[in-house]
Amino acid sequence: MKNKIPTREEALELFKKYNKSDSLLRHALAVEGTMRHFAELLGEPDVEKWGIVGLIHDLDYEMYPDEHCIKVQEILKEEDYPEDYIRAVASHGFGICCDIEPVESMEKVLYAIDELTGLITAVVLLRPSKSVLDLEPKSVKKKWKDKAFAAGVDRSIIEKGIEILEMEKDYVIQETINAMRKVAEEIGLKGNL
Ligand SMILES: [Fe+2]
Ligand SMILES: [Fe+2]
Repeated sequence: MKNKIPTREEALELFKKYNKSDSLLRHALAVEGTMRHFAELLGEPDVEKWGIVGLIHDLDYEMYPDEHCIKVQEILKEEDYPEDYIRAVASHGFGICCDIEPVESMEKVLYAIDELTGLITAVVLLRPSKSVLDLEPKSVKKKWKDKAFAAGVDRSIIEKGIEILEMEKDYVIQETINAMRKVAEEIGLKGNL
């Protein structure tokens, strides 16, 4: 039997069923927006699928932190999600909490931009404007090198992701900023601009 294709509304509802934290929701929306943006840049036909995968990638994180990327596969199977969605979601934890390697471009982009949106968010919150709208890539690159800053963001994962994507680091940073600008309001990074 063919799996049902989830709508964005259903995916968001499922995410909220498992996650009550505002910051996790904002992270999910930032990753969703960035996945959509890259799908458009790459001329991918199914932008909606990329967005949904981004939205639900950390679905199990709040309730099952010790089974992150494992438990979510079970949940999504029960919800009748298609296999490629489940695989993509789990692969963002490659080498950290699961052994599913990102191979599709949707998986590689997710792997590269997940932590990068976190680093960009941390940089934005440090700015007087508290806004992503006037953020320049050079500010992100400066903080990239400052290992004490946002120490929870593992730069080596972002670098590995960008490497497997075979894109320029500057381009990925710029386009992730552009993506987050589009959803600045929803992710609480519009600041006072
Ligand atoms: Fe995660
Ligand atoms: Fe994440």
